[in-house]
Amino acid sequence: MGTPADHLDTLLKETRSFAPSSEFQGNANFNDPSIYERALEDPEGYWSEQAKHLDWFTPYTKICEWNPPHAAWFSDGTLNATYNAVDRHRATYRKNKAAILWEGEPGDRRVLTYDMLGREVDRAAHMLASLGVKKGDRVAIYLPMIPELPITMLACAKIGAIHTIVFAGFSSSSLRDRILDADANVLVTADAGHRRGGIIPLKANADDAVDGTHVKTMVVVNRVGAPSGATMTEGRDVAWETLMAEMPNTPYPCEPMNAEDILYILYTSGTTGKPKGIVHTTGGYLVGANTSMRSVFDLKDDDVYFCTADIGWVTGHTYIVYGPLTAGATVVMYEGAPDFPNRDRFWQIIERYGVTIFYTAPTSIRTFMKWGPQHPAAYDLSSLRLMGTVGEPINPEAWMWYHEHIGHGNCPIVDTWWQTETGCAMIAPLPGLINTKPGSATRPVPGISVAVFDEHGQAVQPGSGGYLVITKPWPSMLRTIWRDDERFAKTYFGQFQGIYLPGDGAHLDEDRYIWILGRIDDVINVSGHRIGTMEVESALVDHKSVAEAAVIGRAHEIKGQAITAFVTLKEGVVASPELVAELKQHVVIQIGAMARPEEILFTAELPKTRSAKIMRRLLRDIAEGRALGDTTTLADPSVIDALKSQYQDKE
Ligand code: WT7
Repeated sequence: MGTPADHLDTLLKETRSFAPSSEFQGNANFNDPSIYERALEDPEGYWSEQAKHLDWFTPYTKICEWNPPHAAWFSDGTLNATYNAVDRHRATYRKNKAAILWEGEPGDRRVLTYDMLGREVDRAAHMLASLGVKKGDRVAIYLPMIPELPITMLACAKIGAIHTIVFAGFSSSSLRDRILDADANVLVTADAGHRRGGIIPLKANADDAVDGTHVKTMVVVNRVGAPSGATMTEGRDVAWETLMAEMPNTPYPCEPMNAEDILYILYTSGTTGKPKGIVHTTGGYLVGANTSMRSVFDLKDDDVYFCTADIGWVTGHTYIVYGPLTAGATVVMYEGAPDFPNRDRFWQIIERYGVTIFYTAPTSIRTFMKWGPQHPAAYDLSSLRLMGTVGEPINPEAWMWYHEHIGHGNCPIVDTWWQTETGCAMIAPLPGLINTKPGSATRPVPGISVAVFDEHGQAVQPGSGGYLVITKPWPSMLRTIWRDDERFAKTYFGQFQGIYLPGDGAHLDEDRYIWILGRIDDVINVSGHRIGTMEVESALVDHKSVAEAAVIGRAHEIKGQAITAFVTLKEGVVASPELVAELKQHVVIQIGAMARPEEILFTAELPKTRSAKIMRRLLRDIAEGRALGDTTTLADPSVIDALKSQYQDKE
C-alpha cells in the first residue's frame, strides 16, 4: 500500500465510475434523484417525512431546535425504541418473520422470530426491573456476540434504562473505566466468549473490573460452560438462565420516552487519554438509523442482511440492532472469527442463509484478498445484491476485489463514512441514484450538509482538500459527551463556530465527490478501530521500566494503520526482546488486544521541539521510511539519526 502520501496519490488518480444497473435503479427504495434537492432545500421537512416510518406514542410538533452546539429533534414527541424495533412488528405479518438468524462460532444456531425475540426481551425487561433498574439508570453490558446481547439492549430500551456496551475485546481496566464513568450499578456479562477456537475470559475480567465501582449485581450468561473457569460471587452474581426462568411470561410495558431521552452511551477514543462517552438520544437516533437502512442499504422486506461488525462498536448498535430491526429486517448475526474453523466462514454463512446485503470493513476485505479468491469462489454468493464498507478509507484495489470476487460485478458498493458520534451513515451513495467511484464515499446522504473547509473556515473549491465538516445539525448526532459537556463543545465545535468537526481530512473532487483521507488528530485507525495515541502512551508509561513514550500510526497493508511505539527507558533498565514482549502485553492488559503495538523501539531520546513537544510527524516519517519533513524546529538533531539507524536495524 505504501505510505499515506502514495496512497493519496493513487486515490486521487482514480477515474473509474460504476453506475447501478437499470434493474437495481428501477427497484430501489430511493430512486427519484430530486430527493437530494428537496432535502437540501428543506432538511427538516425531509427528516420529518422520514420520522413517519417510526411509531410515535405522542406525535411531535417540533422538528429541530438548534442552539449551537446543542440540538434537539422531535423534542415534544414520545416513543420507545424497543416498541419500534420489536413489538410493533409482532402485531403484523412480521410476527413470525425471522428477526435474528444467529450462528455461534462452534457452529450452534438459533433463530429468533420477531415474536420470539419480543418474548425474550419482555422477560429480560422483567429481570432488569426485578434488579431495581429504572428509567435513566445505566446498565453496563460486556457480552460476546450472542443473542443475549441484543436482548439485553432492547430490554434496557424497553424500560428506559441507558445501556453502555463495552466491546468484549476490551480489558478489565478499560471496562472498569467505562463502568465508573457511566456510573452503572448493573453489569450483564457472560462466563466467557468463543474466539477463533479459544476462550475470552469475560467473567474473570468483569470480576477485576467491578472492584471499586458501584456495580451491585452482575448477571452472568452461561455461554461457554465449565471450560470458562468462571466462579460466581455469592450475593452479587446471578445466573442469567436462573433469573430469566423465574420471570413472568407476560409483556413488559414499553416506557414512553421523550425523543430527547438518552438511549445509550458508547465510549470512543479521542485525543486525550480518557475515552469519551458519546450520548445518543431516542428519537433522532432512531430516525437516522432507520432512514439509512431504507436509503443507503435499500432494505426490502425479503432481504437477508448480514453486518460483520461487533455490536460492541457503533456499527453494530446502528446496523445490527436499531437500524435493521426498526425496519423489520432479517438480520444474520455471527459470533466469531472469519477464519474459524476455516477461511471461508463468511461465504459459507452467505450461502447458507441466502444473504442479500453484506456489510463489512476494508481491513477484512484486504485480509480476504490475502487469503485468496478461491475461498469465496467455492460458494454460491449469487443471492447478494448490495454490499457496504465502513471504518476507514477503502483503497481502490480492495474495492475492485470486493466488487469482482464477492459481488461478481452485480452489486453496488456503498462506502459509508460516519462515526460513533454521527450515529448513522453520513456520506454514502444512495445505491440506485449515485454512480460509485472506488475509494470515495461519494456524496452526503439527503438531509446531511457536508463541506470541506480550509483552516479559515472557508469552503474549498472542487479539486482541493481540507477539513471535513458538517454544517447543519442532523437527527442522530451525539447530544453531548456524558458528564463532560465542555469537552463536547470544545472537541466538535471549538474550531469553527456552530460547525461540527469530525476530525477527518477530505478531498472534494470536480464532481463534488468526497474522498476521506483519514484522521487529522492524534487518533489511530487500526483495522477500523479508533485508538487514541495518548491512551497507548499512558498504558506504556504506566509500566515500571518506561520513562517516556510516543505512539504513532504508520501505514499497514492489512490493518490500514498499525501502532508503532517509541519508548525511552528509565535509568538502568536494559532493553531486550523480552522487555518488548512485556510492554506489548502491558498495553493489552491496560486497554485490550486491539491496542497492542505492532512494534516498540527503544530510544535514548525522543525528537522534541525546543518547547518540548514530541514531534510525532518525524516519528511517522521514520516508521514509514520516508524522507524526513522539516526538522528545523528540532531541539537536538542527533536524536533523529540514532532513531533512523535503529529503525533500519529492526528490518
Ligand atoms: C472514524 C470513526 C462508524 C463506524 C466505524 C468507525 C473513519 C469510518 C469511514 C469510511 C473513511 C472512515 C473516520 C472516522 N471512517 N468510516 N467509509 N471511509 N474513513 O467508527 O470508531 O467512531 O471511527 O472512522 O476516520 O472519523 P468510529
